[in-house]
Amino acid sequence: MAHALNIVRAARGAAPPEVGCASGRTRQGRTSRFALMGGLLLAGGLLAGCRQDMHDAPRYEALEESDFFADKRAMRPIPEGTVARGNLREDDVYYTGKRDGEIIQELPAQVKVDKALLDRGQQRFNIYCAPCHSPLGDGNGTVVQRGYKRPASYHDPRLRNMGIGYFYDVITNGFGQMPDYTAQVAPADRWAIAAYIRVLQRSQAGTIEDVPADHRGELDGKAPAAEASHGGGAAHD
Ligand code: HEC
Repeated sequence: MAHALNIVRAARGAAPPEVGCASGRTRQGRTSRFALMGGLLLAGGLLAGCRQDMHDAPRYEALEESDFFADKRAMRPIPEGTVARGNLREDDVYYTGKRDGEIIQELPAQVKVDKALLDRGQQRFNIYCAPCHSPLGDGNGTVVQRGYKRPASYHDPRLRNMGIGYFYDVITNGFGQMPDYTAQVAPADRWAIAAYIRVLQRSQAGTIEDVPADHRGELDGKAPAAEASHGGGAAHD
């Protein structure tokens, strides 16, 4: 213990402690000897004297200078390539939406499409994207109505044909005037939003073929009304 402390002190370039205080640190082993000497009062005095030494422990303060390291920094730089626990992102496809630099067309294999994913995507979309892109994704959100740049509609054929990785990429890196949403939307939620954007796109491009044959009769003569409520449902469910 004393040996270890001395090494630390040597590293700091600090002077070794005064003898009186050193015996104070190991006072348990010495108490009996002090008692034999009738030195209780003296021991009390030594302990009081060591209070300051306890405060001034042999450790570095943040940003303190060190003579031990060549660059004088007590706080050591993080070695190159260090990854914080839980932050290893080796899977490029999942964490960039691209494979070998190309936007992916289909969701990454580990993203399972189910109702829970789409519900989550809808909820996150309505919080983080709809203020500008509108709940329908047509680019006419409230913020845009108040003067923000109007984004392209998701129902534009260009965006409809864009690989799904593109939406992940825009959330991650932003696009033109749109800021990125890396801090607000975690990777799993970015995929949920991307999947939900596909739902929005599909909802605005329905054809009679999407209606099961045995239900088509119900649409006869009132197709426009049915279509309108369908669109509204997608936006506000
Ligand atoms: C503050 C308003 C705002 C918010 C919030 C916002 N966007 Fe955007 N977005 C824009 C604007 C404006 C553009 C067009 C930027 C430009 O052209 O300079 C854009 C562009 C895009 C594009 C690219 C369209 C293209 O033309 O290629 C995608 C995809 C997109 N946004 C998705 C999202 C998603 C997903 C979210 C939610 C996570 C979101 N945006 C949140 C304003 C916003």
